[in-house]
Amino acid sequence: MNVLIAFAPQEEPVAVVEVSELRRVFKSKKGESVALERVDLDVKEGEIFGLLGPNGAGKTTLIRILTTLLLPTSGKAAVCGFDIAKEAQKVRPLIGVASGSERPGYDFKGSSPRCSSSTSTSTRSCTCSRLDFARELR
Ligand SMILES: Nc1ncnc2c1ncn2[C@@H]1O[C@H](COP(=O)(O)OP(=O)(O)OP(=O)(O)O)[C@@H](O)[C@H]1O
Ligand SMILES: [Mg+2]
Repeated sequence: MNVLIAFAPQEEPVAVVEVSELRRVFKSKKGESVALERVDLDVKEGEIFGLLGPNGAGKTTLIRILTTLLLPTSGKAAVCGFDIAKEAQKVRPLIGVASGSERPGYDFKGSSPRCSSSTSTSTRSCTCSRLDFARELR
């Protein structure tokens, strides 16, 4: 007996983070320090993405760029389809960041009109609301 199970084609998940050829150089009196060199990555909606690397690999630099706290030297990055350099004001209400050793860049709850400050708001539902909000902005 053959069994054929067909699933309705799912919509392709959208990329909420898109990074292309990203480069960041820090300049000081001592010279140049290349923190990021040609970084490419995509993170799709609903995906849990771990960014791992040794000390000094550039993880914090990348997060700072994606959260619009730092500009890249070259390359492109977008969050929910918005360019982090040219459309930072549209990116900021859509994101939250909490760093282990630094102050959070944004208040996770309440920075988006769709995210209530209720403690019962789950991260997932808040993220979805932010994506819906991003789609409306476009
Ligand atoms: N503001 C800055 N000025 C000069 N150099 C910097 C600056 N910020 C980061 N760097 C350099 O950029 C490189 C990447 O640093 P970054 O802090 O992004 O790495 P990291 O992967 O987060 O490291 P860690 O695991 O220690 O947190 C390092 O060589 C670091 O010295
Ligand atoms: Mg770090």
